Amino acid sequence: MTAKWIIRIVFAIVACVVIISACRKTDSNPGPKYIEFKVPSGFPAPNYNFATNPLTQQAFDLGKKLFYDGRLSKDGNFPCASCHQQLAGFANFDHDLSHGFDNQFTTRNAPPLFNLVWHKEMHWDGGINHIEVQPLAPITAPNEMAEEINTVIAKLQADSSYPQLFRAAFGNSTISSQQILLALTQFVGSMVSANSKYDKVNRGEAEFTEIEKTGYALFKEKKCNSCHAEPLFTDMSFRNTGIPVKPALMDLGRMRITNKSEDSLKFKVPSLRNVRVSFPYGHDGRFPAIKSMLDHYSSGVQDGPSVDPLVKNKIALTELDKFYLTQFLYTLTDSSFLQDKRFAQPE
Ligand code: HEC
Ligand code: HEC
Repeated sequence: MTAKWIIRIVFAIVACVVIISACRKTDSNPGPKYIEFKVPSGFPAPNYNFATNPLTQQAFDLGKKLFYDGRLSKDGNFPCASCHQQLAGFANFDHDLSHGFDNQFTTRNAPPLFNLVWHKEMHWDGGINHIEVQPLAPITAPNEMAEEINTVIAKLQADSSYPQLFRAAFGNSTISSQQILLALTQFVGSMVSANSKYDKVNRGEAEFTEIEKTGYALFKEKKCNSCHAEPLFTDMSFRNTGIPVKPALMDLGRMRITNKSEDSLKFKVPSLRNVRVSFPYGHDGRFPAIKSMLDHYSSGVQDGPSVDPLVKNKIALTELDKFYLTQFLYTLTDSSFLQDKRFAQPE
């Protein structure tokens, strides 16, 4: 064989290797596929806008897998989704308090999850002030997932698919707690509910019935909207609505965080979107139905130093008012969100 031929063969081999590895690269790592976060019409600017955690399909998919994965909990049985179910607007379906590790109960009702990027503070007492750190609370709480973040990392690192998914999402297959938190934030932060009948009426795509119109008028007349402010149906403030403290729980709400007596028994105003499916209600889930919540406003309010002036003297509501209000609240159910495959339990 002549030197010329040897050079030709070597050149051909090098060319093949270069082409094959280039193809491989595009196959397994197509680069980030960016997703645009759309603020629904009429909504204010979100508090968290993904500026430092750019939304990509890869990180969103990873966040979804983590949300539904029991391995984030100590015994494998308590994924985020065990307490946050889509059919209940990602609240805990039909549970006042949720079950966690070792048959223990949480001390509060699991709130529904949607429109979270508009929240400045999370949890009933606002004890969490950033969406990206929130998941650490349930993962490490002994009565929830009861796991240590380093153990979660070790479990995921040893898995056959996770390292590659982390590389696709963050360009690095060494898993870190920060990446877990960013991916979960992409998933839960993308949950937006803004397509209920109420929204369609606002966009001129539907009309309220006479009954719903009456309910909506009452909602404003009775000042429900002073706290459950449109369009999010919460003003994100903390209020004491005169719900008597349960001796077994002694939950003082916001005061636990601020240590100020004026914050005693204040809880974050919950959104009323999807309220029809997120029963039971209240911070400890003591109200089984919307009707019982409304009965509280009309006859159950217990006065005290920090009780909100808007409810201090109870809210006068007839049984018929309660019916109309309930029919209006039903228009806040967003079935396209509740059935959105993007957020659904993987099959
Ligand atoms: C054992 C049940 C349970 C599990 C598991 C659980 N949660 Fe929760 N979640 C709750 C409860 C209860 C609260 C309310 C906590 C409070 O107010 O102190 C909550 C609150 C939240 C909030 C705040 C919502 C708001 O409106 O303030 C977010 C976000 C959230 N959970 C996401 C998650 C994620 C992500 C996971 C998985 C990493 C998870 N949760 C796992 C029960 C659970
Ligand atoms: C002073 C502020 C305020 C006013 C006024 C108010 N709410 Fe509320 N609402 C709250 C707070 C705070 C909670 C949570 C209370 C708790 O569990 O401690 C709540 C809870 C609810 C819930 C249960 C939601 C859930 O997911 O747990 C419903 C339903 C509700 N309110 C409807 C109404 C209606 C209808 C009106 C008017 C008749 C009204 N609210 C007036 C602050 C208010």
